Amino acid sequence: MKALVLAGGTGSRLRPFTHTGAKQLLPLANRPVVHYALQAIADAGIEEVGMVVGAHGDAIRHAVGDGSAFGLRIAYLRQPEPRGLAHAVLIARDFLKDDDFLLYLGDNYLEDGVRAFVRRAAADGDAARLLVTPVPDPTAFGVAEVGGDGLVRRLEEKPERPRSDLALVGVYAFTPAVHEAVRAIGPSGRGELEITHAVQWMIDRGLAVRAETTTRPWRDTGSVDDLLEANRHVLDRTQGQVDGKVDPHSVLVGRVRIAEGAVVTGSRIVGPVVVGAGAVISNSSVGPYTAIAEDCRIEDSAIEFSVLLRGASVEGAPRIERSLIGREAVVAAAPRPPQAHRLVIGDHSKVQLTS
Ligand code: TTP
Repeated sequence: MKALVLAGGTGSRLRPFTHTGAKQLLPLANRPVVHYALQAIADAGIEEVGMVVGAHGDAIRHAVGDGSAFGLRIAYLRQPEPRGLAHAVLIARDFLKDDDFLLYLGDNYLEDGVRAFVRRAAADGDAARLLVTPVPDPTAFGVAEVGGDGLVRRLEEKPERPRSDLALVGVYAFTPAVHEAVRAIGPSGRGELEITHAVQWMIDRGLAVRAETTTRPWRDTGSVDDLLEANRHVLDRTQGQVDGKVDPHSVLVGRVRIAEGAVVTGSRIVGPVVVGAGAVISNSSVGPYTAIAEDCRIEDSAIEFSVLLRGASVEGAPRIERSLIGREAVVAAAPRPPQAHRLVIGDHSKVQLTS
């Protein structure tokens, strides 16, 4: 079996970050989201991966390489425009040949990986296998209606009145039967070739599409809130380890991981927290649920439940929470209490003012 990892897309919900980078490279506990996908694929015994990339393909290639770090062989497949998940399958036809394959959305995180799913998909003779999970509000997801025999009767994309609570998780196993389906369907109302339409096409022609239900943690990282939640989840499973320098005036509480080359002085860090190499934290309070990437600087500030990307700096901020702060971004206190706010912010940025 091969794997097809989708790491293109528009990422409109993660603007402005996706103007300058790939959302699949945003970090969970200081590690790119797509690394978790590749690790899960390698753990499932798959060796050959096609990575579908778009505008930020070069950055993904740089961060992932040829896959040897994961024990994988990765081929990069350029999708000229993000025209939908089924379109990504369409352009991967030559790479996939007539092999069965695992389709994995590169911005999804599954705590338990896909080993059992892949094993069962390889063992049964169904045309496709979908991973689904019960969710409280299915209206934001692709939703599967499943019969008592475990076969999918119908799929709907973000239905107003869902027929079940089973949302599609971003992992699918396909036989080559899917190729005819992705060729046969037309664009949806939003102009994309939808994988749900391709699978429905298979069901309508009598092919067996089986649903496998999981209740194990799964996170989509497609929006800022989702990414912060996924980061929180991964941090909850992270062990503490101090390799960097922590001065005697600092206090570490709970599971705190400080990489070699990071320096903490006069600060209180409440885990779970990870701090990357080269980061400097002084006279501050950090955590819980915070990931500080390499080369960040936090001074005279308090920050919790947040993610800082590489080289970001925060200085004199009395309290920051639920924030995602971009690479090399600077957050600094105004010199005097402001009568007016001065803002230099890019397109699609979001700023919340308290007064
Ligand atoms: P989505 O999150 O569904 O789509 P998107 O990336 O366009 O984001 P938004 O809705 O915020 O604009 O995509 C799921 C995964 O599939 C994600 O890793 C991006 C990838 N993808 C492709 O590789 N090609 C595509 O054409 C699309 C639509 C998504």
